[in-house]
Amino acid sequence: MKVIPLHKEHAESFKQIRLIGLKEHPESFASSFEEEVQQSILDIEKKLLSSQAITYGAFHEGKLGGIITLLYESKLKMRHKAHIVGLFVREEFRGLGMAKQLMNTVIEKAQGSTTIEQLHLTVMADNQPAIKLYKKLGFRSYAHEPRALKVVGHYYDEIHMVLQLK
Ligand SMILES: CC(C)(COP(=O)(O)OP(=O)(O)OC[C@H]1O[C@@H](n2cnc3c(N)ncnc32)[C@H](O)[C@@H]1OP(=O)(O)O)[C@@H](O)C(=O)NCCC(=O)NCCS
Repeated sequence: MKVIPLHKEHAESFKQIRLIGLKEHPESFASSFEEEVQQSILDIEKKLLSSQAITYGAFHEGKLGGIITLLYESKLKMRHKAHIVGLFVREEFRGLGMAKQLMNTVIEKAQGSTTIEQLHLTVMADNQPAIKLYKKLGFRSYAHEPRALKVVGHYYDEIHMVLQLK
């Protein structure tokens, strides 16, 4: 397995895996399939090139099996924080340690930064596999947000978690 930053040339495969994630797990992401299916490859290339975020992909036997994004804060008073978003591993690649490797990659990236002191993420309150992973990596929950997402008439609570690095 290989984890690398995704660039312009990965836009098409990134779009595909992202749409699979949004379709299969709408309750796990704030973005919607309906919104992202409209995005052009050019929009996705721009997203992958943004200086405000870095997206990594995990490849197994040459196939993109998992993705994760680290989002930076631009405001001076918030630059000590960064956000982990969009963690998704395709079903056929689950249980291989891909998510753990993607998470460790973004944690190491943040640790190597001179500004980031803590990492934040949100997770659907019932998502035990993801919560277990985050806790193992040292994240602790600091808030429970009721009805954080509304997906076709159903409400989902979210847990907010933080990992202090410095
Ligand atoms: C959650 C998800 C990312 C895990 O991906 P994965 O590559 O299968 O996870 P890994 O193999 O790296 O497992 C790492 C750890 O996560 C936990 N975990 C993963 N799958 C689990 C499961 N089905 N049940 C319980 N714990 C699980 C375990 O602690 C595991 O460590 P262990 O194997 O040493 O026990 C994946 O199931 C997924 O993409 N789910 C849908 C999208 C999603 O929920 N994303 C997170 C949004 S916040």
